[in-house]
Amino acid sequence: MCGIVGYIGPKQAQNILLEGLRKLEYRGYDSAGLAVYQDGKLKVEKAEGPLSALEERLNGQPLHGEMGIGHTRWATHGKPSDENSHPHVDGKQQFAVVHNGIIENYLELKEELQEKGYAFTSETDTEVIAHLLADLDDGDLVSTVRKAVARMEGAYALAIAHVDEPDKLVAVRLASPLIVGVGDGENFIASDIPAILEHTRDVYVLDDGEMAVLTRDGVELSTTDGKPVSRDLMHVTWDAATAEKGGYEHFMLKEIHEQPKAIRDTLAGRIKDGLVDLSQEISLSAEELKRFDKIHFVACGTAYHAGLIGKSVVEKLARIPVEVDVASEYRYRDPIITPSTLVVVVSQSGETADTLAALREAQKAGAQVLGITNVVGSSVAREADEVLMTWAGPEIAVASTKAYTTQLIAIYLFGLYLARILETRSESELAEATEALLKLPKQAETLLEDPSAIRRFAGDIAQHEDLFFIGRGLDHAVVMEGSLKLKEISYIHSDAYAAGELKHGTLALIEEGIPVIALATQKAVYDKMVSNIIEVKARGAHVLGLGLEGDDELGKSVDEVITIPETLPLLTPVLSVIPLQLLAYYTSTARGLNVDKPRNLAKSVTVE
Ligand code: F6R
Repeated sequence: MCGIVGYIGPKQAQNILLEGLRKLEYRGYDSAGLAVYQDGKLKVEKAEGPLSALEERLNGQPLHGEMGIGHTRWATHGKPSDENSHPHVDGKQQFAVVHNGIIENYLELKEELQEKGYAFTSETDTEVIAHLLADLDDGDLVSTVRKAVARMEGAYALAIAHVDEPDKLVAVRLASPLIVGVGDGENFIASDIPAILEHTRDVYVLDDGEMAVLTRDGVELSTTDGKPVSRDLMHVTWDAATAEKGGYEHFMLKEIHEQPKAIRDTLAGRIKDGLVDLSQEISLSAEELKRFDKIHFVACGTAYHAGLIGKSVVEKLARIPVEVDVASEYRYRDPIITPSTLVVVVSQSGETADTLAALREAQKAGAQVLGITNVVGSSVAREADEVLMTWAGPEIAVASTKAYTTQLIAIYLFGLYLARILETRSESELAEATEALLKLPKQAETLLEDPSAIRRFAGDIAQHEDLFFIGRGLDHAVVMEGSLKLKEISYIHSDAYAAGELKHGTLALIEEGIPVIALATQKAVYDKMVSNIIEVKARGAHVLGLGLEGDDELGKSVDEVITIPETLPLLTPVLSVIPLQLLAYYTSTARGLNVDKPRNLAKSVTVE
């Protein structure tokens, strides 16, 4: 994720930039840095660690100047360290750059620049931008930036300063958020509104492919290829707390709505010529991948539920037997681990003690470990033999949402890559699945447009103390996640069942008026699922059915129906979980509970 800020005006930039970064710390907090124009130079100070580490460094030697840029980092390329922190500069310290996003063609650009003699001091993709600017420098900051941007692929929000044009700052946006704050004799750049709210409420929200040139007295907007843009200022009326949540009432709702972007980011750069290619990230050769005769998914809570989907995905695509374990049980059950076992640990934080213990146990037994995690530099990222990152950005709400959907995406990518190497699926099948994967962000966006039906149902179930979720096949794994989400933030007891199991005991609990949430997205077991729904309806349950768009039958067997866009059966969990996340959210708010910080729970569980 990362947060960027910029200031140009009559005041000391350092304090304004630091205050802005403090408000953006929710976007990243593993390192921070500033570049300020002082005495004819761009002076840079940066530090690994929280913003306070940078502040401590600046306490001794403050930067004095009235123009500058700043950054708070959530590592993507390169671990958290002083060197990898932003701003990045070129060798002659002419350009300073802060960046939020990922430059997908950075390796290609880096090689080209290295051949020309540019020396790199960090492992980041961002440093490429500083050297590229230096290489293309034509003596005019704006036109140099335009030329550099034309060479860059990926996602970026940038703030750029040049030592010879201290009366100017340039901001550029493609697929990463960026706003420009307009003040009186001063102007601002920021990733998000809270960073500038203390100074101005008038902002331009940049669109993809646009840039802004800021001076003290004005802001000019244009497209990156030079066409002028005219836009009305937006006047922000939010208070500071609402602004921090992007206008949403809670971080959880914000993070639910961030899923289309998080999915898009997790897919980015991993699909080439229509097929999944992870060869840049997974160093195991085809021969080594072919040697695995079983796979264990090991994780906790929501991440464990992602592992359950992982079993179906990998077995179906790559035809390797998969076991799934709760991490706190794994090492105590004496699992059969051999050097031909691949253990996949899934962890948003990368710090969960049970998951780490399982990782170490697996390595001790000679297994290779693949870590799927959201935090660069976390223990899982450092200790696993192979790492596949999810690019969800920091997740603040205790209840995990965007981390789960991106874990699913990482699992699909891995399953498709494995199937490609093992040749267990034809190229056309793999291409079809990859195409469907790429459609998911847009479909998730559509799904999030109108939550009114779910909100209504949430209002009903908020009155109950018990309810049930049912589903078959992949829908069963998804209802387990839906049930956990509801329990943890609404404190309503709920259970998730494989629908065919009800008649073996649980049906005894179904009585008049009890809410049942039934998923019916899996075509192969659809008729059987409808029979199970009829069983609970016959005992008086009030049923919310969740099916695929275009399903005209489901409505006849349930009380209320909501639908998700159609995708391949294997991919439906990414979409079907979203209404369940919203259901949990609206039920919690209907009960007036602390959605983002539910009782007794912590975001990262670092004790066993
Ligand atoms: C539930 C939730 C937890 C975590 C679990 C593992 O919403 O967030 O169940 O999924 O504690 O955490 P990580 O993924 O950080 O290992």
